[in-house]
Amino acid sequence: MTVELLVNGERVEVEASPQTPLLYVLRNDLALNGPKYGCGLGECGACAVLVADRAVRSCAVPLSALKGRPVTTLEGLGTRERPHPVQSAFIARNAAQCGYCLNGMIIATVALLRRTNNPSESEIREALRHHLCRCGTHLEILDAVRAAARAGSPDETHRDHP
Ligand code: FES
Ligand code: FES
Repeated sequence: MTVELLVNGERVEVEASPQTPLLYVLRNDLALNGPKYGCGLGECGACAVLVADRAVRSCAVPLSALKGRPVTTLEGLGTRERPHPVQSAFIARNAAQCGYCLNGMIIATVALLRRTNNPSESEIREALRHHLCRCGTHLEILDAVRAAARAGSPDETHRDHP
């Protein structure tokens, strides 16, 4: 059936079962490969996207659960020329080795900073606690999140709330 979605500020239609995980449609139908397939079980965080302002694991969210709410992927945050402030902080702190986890780390950080612009250390650690990094760059990642919070740059991402 035809399912209408609002992704990165644009209305799109895809042919899919309502039970299809959002991640499959983002990657396979819309060519949005920022969200990564890691575990496919909602456990690693590599597939995270924003639904409204909340970070969710798109491998575990069927299309039917979206109910018209806006989806923002890594691609919707910033561009190579004009990265989102959180992306800039991750780049500045060299918070990547293979980079596979970074989509989820960045999405979780954006969601955190939308909830609170001055998160405590424990709030930062809690926000990233269930995001796995097999390369062990957790220290650089935490440093980048602190830097993004300190910078307090405005989040100019398109936020289309229905
Ligand atoms: S791929 Fe979705 S949480 Fe691991
Ligand atoms: S940088 Fe490789 S999984 Fe995190």
